[in-house]
Amino acid sequence: MTLSIPASSQADLTSLNTMALACHAKYFVSLSHEAQIEPILKPLVANQAPFLILSGGSNVLLPPTLRAHVIQPLLKGVEVIHEDKDQVLIEVMAGENWHELVTTTVNRGWFGLENLALIPGLTGAAPVQNIGAYGVQLDDVITHVRAYHIPTDSWHHLDKAACEFGYRDSVFKRQAGEWLITRVGFDLHKDNQRINSQYGDVQNAALEIAYKAQRASITPVDIMQAITAIRQSKLPNPANLPNCGSFFKNPIIGTPQFEQLKTQWPDLVGYRVDETHTKVAAGWLIDHAGLKGKGIAPILIHDRQALVLTNHSPSLNLTPAKQSDVAATQVYVQEQIASRYGIHLEREPVWIEEDGQINLSNTTLRG
Ligand code: EPU
Repeated sequence: MTLSIPASSQADLTSLNTMALACHAKYFVSLSHEAQIEPILKPLVANQAPFLILSGGSNVLLPPTLRAHVIQPLLKGVEVIHEDKDQVLIEVMAGENWHELVTTTVNRGWFGLENLALIPGLTGAAPVQNIGAYGVQLDDVITHVRAYHIPTDSWHHLDKAACEFGYRDSVFKRQAGEWLITRVGFDLHKDNQRINSQYGDVQNAALEIAYKAQRASITPVDIMQAITAIRQSKLPNPANLPNCGSFFKNPIIGTPQFEQLKTQWPDLVGYRVDETHTKVAAGWLIDHAGLKGKGIAPILIHDRQALVLTNHSPSLNLTPAKQSDVAATQVYVQEQIASRYGIHLEREPVWIEEDGQINLSNTTLRG
């Protein structure tokens, strides 16, 4: 194969981030092969040029102008590493669409990803925030990540422990801008009866699907269909109403504080994390503060799932919203929740500065 090295060019990234924020990149390049990575990145590192890895753009808040070199890995392919009667180990290239991967594997009888159906984005971004939904997190099914470490110009095979996964967190998120993930490995199973249906309405929705198909027990395919339907009913489709999924993390507070809040709001939803901590449903807090549909236009809290901020500038025919518009509504929600419940909400998506650096603080108004 002759290796072509694509040239960098200016690009409008407004349609490449699901929040549809106005963003102009000075230098943008898409990669389709691992072999292109070193020749492109090495000279940039030598020049100390800042850069940013952009995947599906479904969990980022981009600035109006990006002076960093934006690298978009669109590598394709799925490889079976090992298969026996019970198990399939696969390795998936970073540019594969996540939901297509879920449907392809589950429909083929390779199970494990069904609870993670309909999450937007590409496979390479999934380990960065350890995506999770309906009782399953990526770290339940992942085996390893292959990634290029940019500052040291070296390739790494990281096993699950080396990825240092946490709740919506990983080494890739904490050392953002250093790692370019190219492949993700998964351990899938073939047991049609092994399912995880304990979260919320999943069991009932899946049972209904199974009964309609005249089956007495739920299969992983039913789980995938049930979760797809639940998500479609609550979460806005970014193609119609731009958003970046949950905008706030569910805060973890001390259980005594949770019990205290419960005396005032008996319906408050929380899940015990350990002996002394409880994870509170941020969506409940925002919803019960009466904030659904509110915010500072054009960024408004979604009217069906209060944890999601939506961008109404395209539907209102306004000029594209900016990062600072999102910050205004973020701070508005944080202030309302802090004064009502004494809880600080942390932003979940990644805030990118003009130089491509990631700002992990929660209250920034720059940009
Ligand atoms: N709730 C409300 N009002 C709302 C939203 C939620 O009262 O507007 C209540 C619900 O009734 C429920 C509780 O809050 O009792 C939890 O809500 P839900 O099951 O919808 O989940 P979530 O905590 O809001 C988390 C993830 C989602 C994931 C769902 C399902 C985070 C930050 N978010 O949301 O992930 O899909 O659970 O597992 O952990 C994402 O990260 O982008 C994302 C969508």
